[in-house]
Amino acid sequence: MIIKKEWRILTVGDGDLSFSCSLLKHHQPASLTATVYDSLETMQGKYGDDFYQELKARNNPVLFEFDVTNPDSWGSLKPHSFDLIIFQFPLLPAFRSFEEYQNRGEDVNINTLNRRLLRRFLINSCSHFLDPQGQQLCFITSKDVKPYREWNIENDLHLYTNIHYLGSTAFDINMFPGYKIRNVDRDKHVKDTKGITYVWSKNKNNDLAEELQQALYQGDNCCTACRAGPFSTQSDRVEHNLSKKHLNMMEFKRLWLTDLKK
Ligand SMILES: C[S@@+](CC[C@H](N)C(=O)[O-])C[C@H]1O[C@@H](n2cnc3c(N)ncnc32)[C@H](O)[C@@H]1O
Repeated sequence: MIIKKEWRILTVGDGDLSFSCSLLKHHQPASLTATVYDSLETMQGKYGDDFYQELKARNNPVLFEFDVTNPDSWGSLKPHSFDLIIFQFPLLPAFRSFEEYQNRGEDVNINTLNRRLLRRFLINSCSHFLDPQGQQLCFITSKDVKPYREWNIENDLHLYTNIHYLGSTAFDINMFPGYKIRNVDRDKHVKDTKGITYVWSKNKNNDLAEELQQALYQGDNCCTACRAGPFSTQSDRVEHNLSKKHLNMMEFKRLWLTDLKK
């Protein structure tokens, strides 16, 4: 992950604040505002509040019950005042009850709901949180395994927006001593820490692109959704198109495009 000291940073969806705390201590950005989706009480119950206390002792702002999809929860956050918004390992919170699951609507698939969360994060970051005179950067760190890779992060989230995908960089957890990647609802941390940080900006010509790995598997001879190819023959392509993996990805894409049209 690329972090520059002159950036004003907002973190979204921190689980226990260990990421924000480490970012502050080890990278000293110009400013840091940390946010947590849960209430303080819920976070204390799940993970304790050591990192919160540390941020508080440093007079660093922390907002709880911050839902990136819901402007009513943004409270005192000053709009258009950040260079970079970071969402580490985003994932929908689990449903609290069967009723809640049912109320989400039968037509909505979990893959679509997660894509919606990430898309909302990008759109709201660009239109409300980022300073148009600043760097205008959004980072999402995720894993290159199922179900995350089925969100087609590099291609599908920013479709039909004026937000540009700039590329990716490996996420090296060693840059963030003390950071524990949290599961959504449990007090355990995720052991497999291998991640990729994906980068977007409203500014297509942001210089950071030069430091990033460009999206692979683009072009007619590849399958961008499955990240397969280039296919050397037409029959390789046909074989791929008939594979279970491809058919699954196409179904996710169909559901996603239908959702975007709503
Ligand atoms: C897998 S956990 C990762 C937690 C933390 N970012 C980390 O890296 O340890 C996914 C996080 O996304 C947060 N989240 C889910 N929906 C959210 C929303 N609408 N707004 C903000 N955060 C959200 C959850 O609360 C949870 O903390």
